Amino acid sequence: MKPTPKDLFKRNIEWARSKLAMDDQFFSKLNDIQTPNYLWIGCSDSRVPANEIVGMDPGELFVHRNVANVVPHSDANCLAVIQYAVEVLEVEHIIVTGHYNCGGIRAALEDTDHGQIDNWLANIKDVLRQHYSEITALPTQQEQIDRLCELNVEEQVRNVARTTIAQKAWRNKKELTVHGWVYGLQDGLLRDLNVDIDNADQIHEAYRINSNSE
Ligand code: CO
Repeated sequence: MKPTPKDLFKRNIEWARSKLAMDDQFFSKLNDIQTPNYLWIGCSDSRVPANEIVGMDPGELFVHRNVANVVPHSDANCLAVIQYAVEVLEVEHIIVTGHYNCGGIRAALEDTDHGQIDNWLANIKDVLRQHYSEITALPTQQEQIDRLCELNVEEQVRNVARTTIAQKAWRNKKELTVHGWVYGLQDGLLRDLNVDIDNADQIHEAYRINSNSE
């Protein structure tokens, strides 16, 4: 049976009690300030719960999720999260985490009409277009989806680095590393794609902004 909204309140009470049983200051400590060192940018998929996967408590992970973990250049929502994380919370790590068998990636590979979300998925289609021959040469749909999941993460890592926010942080000599990881639904494990960016020299010069005015 699916849990009802009422059940969620019951579960909430149980959860809060269990946290207090381990540490009676658990919530009072969190009430004052949050000092996460990580921003997680992940997929909205219900099977990829950010905090749980990396064993982090409330207060340790700042989270932004959308369909297929995309960082569009001018998405006000995503950019606001990145700016707040970098400039106010001063996180030192931004982790873009995709996941294999992502429904958003699967939909982007299709030519079916999914409605308005196809405009959002055009961000993924941009990645597909750039790697079209590599992706379409893969023999199975599963392999195509999973490879596009990886390539999408790589591109979104670059998109984070291309933001004015990351570039400003690096100009100001702040520690900031953007990571690209992929989560396996089938085994619960994260894989590092080893595509870290931690300085502005790694950004294509077309995107580079050098300001002397700050
Ligand atoms: Co997904």
